[in-house]
Amino acid sequence: MKKILIFGCGAMGGAILSGCLAKGLWKKEEIYVKEHSEEASREKASRYGVHASMDGREAKEADLVILAVKPNVVPGVLQEISRYHPSRVLSIAAAVTLASLEGALPEETEVIRVMPNTPASVGEGMAAIAPGKKASPDFIREAEEIFSALGKEAVVTERQLDELGALSGAGPGYAFVIIDALADAGVLIGLPRKLAIEAAAQTLYGAAKMVLETGKHPAELRDQVTSPGGTTIAGIHAMERDGIRAALMDGVKACLEKSDAMAGK
Ligand SMILES: NC(=O)c1ccc[n+]([C@@H]2O[C@H](COP(=O)([O-])OP(=O)(O)OC[C@H]3O[C@@H](n4cnc5c(N)ncnc54)[C@H](OP(=O)(O)O)[C@@H]3O)[C@@H](O)[C@H]2O)c1
Repeated sequence: MKKILIFGCGAMGGAILSGCLAKGLWKKEEIYVKEHSEEASREKASRYGVHASMDGREAKEADLVILAVKPNVVPGVLQEISRYHPSRVLSIAAAVTLASLEGALPEETEVIRVMPNTPASVGEGMAAIAPGKKASPDFIREAEEIFSALGKEAVVTERQLDELGALSGAGPGYAFVIIDALADAGVLIGLPRKLAIEAAAQTLYGAAKMVLETGKHPAELRDQVTSPGGTTIAGIHAMERDGIRAALMDGVKACLEKSDAMAGK
């Protein structure tokens, strides 16, 4: 039987755990969760029907240790698990580099960094996977298996992982703002709020699905819905004049700059 130890079972740790359990990738009896206190570990364990780890000692025989705590908590957790010489560590902490993870863990520990996003909780996540120097092909395959069960994934360089962090890691935040703004627009022109939110969300979802399923460039799909002198191009013209494209580009760039600054780059 496998043994998996998860440090931090909050929004992302919980999404990974529930997603892998739902997809049958993991069995409940294989999982241990460790929170900042024994009481919190017990509470999270009973919520998911898995084991609670009292002191992280399962890191010793665990096949996989997942770090899903906030970045500022990572150094303490690395210190906690190093003495158990964990075989494989997968970290999803933003701005915590492979070099710092590998530097704090024993020489032989295989390390992988992943940048997931919260739609993983509904099976539609996007995860960037950056293998460390010692990560074996088998460990990389395991990471791909976990994150493809939770949506889509791509194995990338560490720099691309940071860049994807600013695009897809933080992306649900941007998307929620866009959905909310479109719903506001619906209310402005007379629609009830609930219907406007549903229509905005379903429209973005459907458009995204068309891009993914047809493989067509988004500009080609846009051309198909903009008849000459028509209503849709009039709407796009107003949005372009107000800088929608530059606002999105500036936002992603600002996010990457902030993440670089946090990582001391
Ligand atoms: N959320 C996202 O969209 C997202 C996307 C990509 C990457 N990430 C990364 O995922 C990591 C987790 O983020 P999150 O949003 O899931 O945060 P979160 O919801 O706050 O979850 C963190 C969990 O860790 C627990 N914790 C705190 N100290 C601990 C300790 N010493 N040992 C074990 N557990 C401890 C927290 O408990 P308490 O709440 O009781 O403190 C909480 O349950 C972060 O490093 C973040 O950069 C998040």
